[in-house]
Amino acid sequence: MAFGKIGQTLSALEIFDLVRADLAKVEREIGLESVASVEAINYINQYLQSGGGKRLRPILVLLSGRLFGEVNPGLIRMAAVVEMIHTATLVHDDVIDLAKTRRGRPSINVVWGNHTSVLAGDWLYMQAFQIALRERNFPTLDLLINLTQMMVEGELLQLERVGRIGVTEADYMELIDRKTASLFSACARLGAISAGAGEAVEARLGEYAWNLGIAFQLVDDILDFTSREKILGKPVGNDLREGKVTLPLIYALDTADAEERKLVETVLADGNYDQVPFSKILHVLNRHRGIERAQERAESFTEKARAIIAEFPESPYQRALAAVTDLVTARDR
Ligand code: IPE
Ligand code: IPE
Ligand code: MG
Ligand code: MG
Repeated sequence: MAFGKIGQTLSALEIFDLVRADLAKVEREIGLESVASVEAINYINQYLQSGGGKRLRPILVLLSGRLFGEVNPGLIRMAAVVEMIHTATLVHDDVIDLAKTRRGRPSINVVWGNHTSVLAGDWLYMQAFQIALRERNFPTLDLLINLTQMMVEGELLQLERVGRIGVTEADYMELIDRKTASLFSACARLGAISAGAGEAVEARLGEYAWNLGIAFQLVDDILDFTSREKILGKPVGNDLREGKVTLPLIYALDTADAEERKLVETVLADGNYDQVPFSKILHVLNRHRGIERAQERAESFTEKARAIIAEFPESPYQRALAAVTDLVTARDR
């Protein structure tokens, strides 16, 4: 599992070891539940499952459930459900973003085209709900439906803001709350619900994961500037090319001069780096400490997450949830 650098307390491998057997069951569940009567869906599902995602969301469900005791089959199913929902959002996201690469391979929209990809995403969403429905648990369904609507609304908000240079930090935070943190929060809550942990505890664990999710997206947006495609599995400099002004740039634009603003505006207008090379944008970011400030902001959220998880009784799972926070801010993909 390539989580990037090793955490201070538990390493990525140690965390992974805690849920390795559970995660194998989750993979089996996803495989069994990814079979349709239409061949295209089957090919796409196989392509997606073998694509090497980090499986962070199911890991979060499993660790959260295990925090309160033994694993039941419902927990495994919920972990499969969140990964399928996540995958469906990525398939649709790549259609919307005209992405070419995902997880180091051509994205679904490139291989199968937009029409098939939209339908495959729909199928995955519905299959995830089908699995969730088997739990016959209304709070769970309620949470999943609210979550999915929240994420779709996030993508819609993002779409409205594409190409706009005047995005504020508040706009940005609202967006990542919806499109990323809400799913992280749901993962922890589903784990807690599955283990019958009680509402107050469920909400608190949800807060932990929400903070983790915000940090995760902040780091994703930083890596878009600082990483390399070979490591990241998706192109760098992509957000700005797609018309998305993310936090490192929002910070830099705070103090940028007119000439520097113009560089950003040009890339936004062109949708490519033909006139203004990516290195020039990096220079603007560096001059105004955009990356550093965004990284500090990410760390303030993981600190919050660590403080919340410290309230929980000590156990290997509690330590693992604490260690995940370091992995998120130190990751390289
Ligand atoms: C990608 O999530 C979408 C974001 C929220 C940034 P991940 O980086 O967890 O994607 P995979 O599943 O590991 O490919
Ligand atoms: C995250 O948005 C995807 C969702 C949460 C739906 P991005 O567009 O930033 O994700 P990547 O960079 O394509 O993985
Ligand atoms: Mg995208
Ligand atoms: Mg991104």
